[in-house]
Amino acid sequence: MDTWDAIRARRNVRQYADRPIDRADLERILEAGRRSPSSRNWQPWHFVVVTDRAQLEELSGVWRGAGHVASSAATVALVVAGKDQDEHPEWAQYDLGQATAYLMLAATDLGIGSAHAAVGDQSEAQRVLGLPGTHRCLYLVAFGYPADRPLQPLQRPDRRPFDDVVHWGRF
Ligand SMILES: Cc1cc2nc3c(=O)[nH]c(=O)nc-3n(C[C@H](O)[C@H](O)[C@H](O)COP(=O)(O)O)c2cc1C
Repeated sequence: MDTWDAIRARRNVRQYADRPIDRADLERILEAGRRSPSSRNWQPWHFVVVTDRAQLEELSGVWRGAGHVASSAATVALVVAGKDQDEHPEWAQYDLGQATAYLMLAATDLGIGSAHAAVGDQSEAQRVLGLPGTHRCLYLVAFGYPADRPLQPLQRPDRRPFDDVVHWGRF
């Protein structure tokens, strides 16, 4: 899939086929995240990759909107040092957002669906992921082959109109 098609085909996929993701494909997705840009190139992230079913089910309990994590083929926990997040909270959020987009687009390119999840219960996330108390899990990104339909460019995305969003020269 070329980049333009991947951008148009990505959508949150929350129901997954019972099919594992090959290790090489998973590593490619993670490599895309590793290559994403960050403020001053500080690369604040750690990616904790979970594929064990029982652990995925536990992880899905960290937020009421994370149920899809339980049935994902793999979920990547985006982890930062608490010290980094406290010193530069906006950078941390922005940079994790960029890494998320890279992870998701690389997955889309491979026909693999993905979905965000926030983290509500930090201490539970730390326990399930084995994080030291110095580190926090800010988001989860779940991956799996779509159970419904393959990823194809969306003709009518659920988005505000182009002219409402885009301002040329002046607001
Ligand atoms: C920062 C952030 C947090 C999100 N958290 C959740 C979540 O906890 N659970 C969930 O199902 N989707 C979550 N989403 C997905 C959004 O709801 C989704 O991207 C949005 O509705 C647009 O849909 P689309 O990605 O399919 O285009 C999150 C997205 C972002 C960017």
